[in-house]
Amino acid sequence: MGKRVLGIETSCDETGVAVYDTEAGLLAHTVHSQIDLHAAYGGVVPELASRDHIRLLPALVRQTVRAADCRLDQIDAIGYTAGPGLAGALLVGAGFAESLGMSLDVPVLPIHHLEGHLLSPLLSADPPKFPFVALLVSGGHTQLMSVSGVGEYVLLGETLDDAAGEAFDKTAKLMGLGYPGGPQLAALASEGKPGRFKLPRPMLRSGDLDFSFSGLKTAVLNVVNGVGWKADDAADLAADFQEAAVDVLVAKSLAALEASGLSQLVVAGGVGANRRLRAQLDRAAKRKGWRVFYPEPELCTDNGAMIAFAAALRFERGPGGSPGGAVSVRPRW
Ligand code: KG4
Ligand code: ZN
Repeated sequence: MGKRVLGIETSCDETGVAVYDTEAGLLAHTVHSQIDLHAAYGGVVPELASRDHIRLLPALVRQTVRAADCRLDQIDAIGYTAGPGLAGALLVGAGFAESLGMSLDVPVLPIHHLEGHLLSPLLSADPPKFPFVALLVSGGHTQLMSVSGVGEYVLLGETLDDAAGEAFDKTAKLMGLGYPGGPQLAALASEGKPGRFKLPRPMLRSGDLDFSFSGLKTAVLNVVNGVGWKADDAADLAADFQEAAVDVLVAKSLAALEASGLSQLVVAGGVGANRRLRAQLDRAAKRKGWRVFYPEPELCTDNGAMIAFAAALRFERGPGGSPGGAVSVRPRW
């Protein structure tokens, strides 16, 4: 039997809990989404998020440990998301993890949320091998990294303004779509045809691996506010927005592979669920003989499994853990 690591994710609006076994793999994971709670406000309300994490965490931990067919006293270590994220929401997970760790007398490891996303494709049945390039596209981050091992990450490029997911969400909002916007905009785009609206591809030819998405969002706003705009055109506009965003993400990912001489691309974060992005990346990679890896769909968005897994990899390299059991979070890590 391997070491069992409990993972806790509460950085934003998902409460995620998982048990990962260093030999048997992922034993169980549970995610509770707060989408319904925040929908009426058109975005995540931090205070409500914290309260809901507090309400659910004890029951979710109990339920997940039971589903993993083990007991709390068989847990060897605990990992929790220490940042980046909403301060109050992070403190719920951190406080819970440190207290549980103290009572079980096991090490507690603070985990970087993006490291969780970054390593999540390694949980799949056919995982990539180090080294690889990672495209991290979430609601808060858009980064290209070169990854040569656990903790060995080199930033190649990142967004200078909005994150890709944020651009999807804000564009959806200004087009009057519901929350969360990204998946809804993508669904609408699949009913439309790109090519009618001449939207920009920001920084496509900047010569570096950085991104910018706020100009694209503004371009959509100008179309919607312009004369002759008809709600009937929304699907085509959504398709054009998606095409422009995907074009830039694909071009920069290929440039990163080319520049680093690597042949594996790992896509992580919520926007990695986007079908058009996947299709275009796969097509481009095939031409070059490169491979693209995606986490399982349920592990693309926030979850406890990626935190348990990242914690397990770090735990195996040495128990570590936070000094003195201090509850520490880093909202802007
Ligand atoms: O990784 P994630 O669950 O949370 C963060 O850590 O940010 O990513 C959520 C982001 C949101 O911005 C959401 O709109 C976006 O991922 N997203 C999508 C799709 N599914 C989720 N964006 C575009 N197309 C999708 N299918
Ligand atoms: Zn995330």
